[in-house]
Amino acid sequence: MNSKGQVAVGVMKRMKEKLAGSTHALNGHRAFYVRESHKLPPEEERTTGTVRVLTLMDLFAGAGGFTLGFVQAGFTPVFAVEFDKDAAATYEANFGPHCSPEDINDVESFPPADIIIGGPPCQGFSNLGAHIPNDPRNQLWRHFVRAVEQSRPLVFVVENVPPLLNSEEGQELMRETRALGYNVDGRILHATDYGVPQARKRTIIIGSRIGRVVFPKPTHVDPKKRDLTTFHLCDWATVRQAIGDLPLEPTEYSLHFGRNPTPKSLERYKHIPPGGNRWNLPPELMPECWRKKTKGGTDLFGRLRWDEPSVTIRTEFFKPEKGRYLHPEAHRPITHREAARIQGFPDEFVFKGSKIEIAKQIGNAD
Ligand SMILES: C[S@@+](CC[C@H](N)C(=O)[O-])C[C@H]1O[C@@H](n2cnc3c(N)ncnc32)[C@H](O)[C@@H]1O
Repeated sequence: MNSKGQVAVGVMKRMKEKLAGSTHALNGHRAFYVRESHKLPPEEERTTGTVRVLTLMDLFAGAGGFTLGFVQAGFTPVFAVEFDKDAAATYEANFGPHCSPEDINDVESFPPADIIIGGPPCQGFSNLGAHIPNDPRNQLWRHFVRAVEQSRPLVFVVENVPPLLNSEEGQELMRETRALGYNVDGRILHATDYGVPQARKRTIIIGSRIGRVVFPKPTHVDPKKRDLTTFHLCDWATVRQAIGDLPLEPTEYSLHFGRNPTPKSLERYKHIPPGGNRWNLPPELMPECWRKKTKGGTDLFGRLRWDEPSVTIRTEFFKPEKGRYLHPEAHRPITHREAARIQGFPDEFVFKGSKIEIAKQIGNAD
């Protein structure tokens, strides 16, 4: 299960407790049925332990990575919005024909749902105290608030890059949803602490109108930092655990496709040891622009390590010059399948679109 799954499991568990009165009553009793969503069920259902379908809406859904975590935790997706046609097609292929492939600005009304999730895109959030710029792309979170206001979910979850939390936009989102009657809290969570084989820090903001907000406890710990308070947790998941069983030689099968590097690129790859980077290149193979760039960029042209989590997977993971994307052992960047695995997508997940579009969907997934 991916980090979204862990957050989703935590949210699902507490929603069930609230809705059914006790988790004990739920054991072995999954008498799901659909009925009017987004309202607390009547008292008798809560006390008898009858469970209903908990419906899910995903805004800015992309391929549906965020939805996937919640589906794995037992939620039923009923509505999504995503204006990229290929991403919307991927979403539909995996979760059903309820993804509206339109600009969220054009969505007039949002249907009811028990939970709304979403990662509004950010082009760079403004620091606290700064005036909110008028760039409309920075204002898309307002549609999230609009959906919460119309749909009145029991719970909502916003995911985003770390700077959202202390940005003017993030604080305003929290203020506005509190004014709608929600308990709201936000934190920066590290995906590695929830079993994802990848360093990926994200702001998670949770709003609830069925009790206070509780964040899930970490399930994994950096083995180098284990102490008496964390001895019971699992070690961080590693690249080896995620992709170690895949053939070193790409097969073209199931997104495990290779690329055709130039002889010079191949020569460069061969000079980078596990954990190494562009500074391991001999002068004759170092491009001029890299030689001049002496500061920063330690991940540039880097090679992953087998027994550590991966770096953050971004949309251009297939270009080693963009980050630490060389395979731990083979002389090539990681394949789409490997990136999808590191992002927590199961091999059965269906992707639609060109190779570049699929890479975008994988790298964008929350
Ligand atoms: C960070 S990605 C979401 C990833 C997704 N949550 C996942 O886990 O797979 C943000 C998505 O918002 C979509 N998007 C951006 N602006 C939009 C708009 N105005 N209306 C609808 N979708 C939009 C983008 O196409 C992109 O797929």
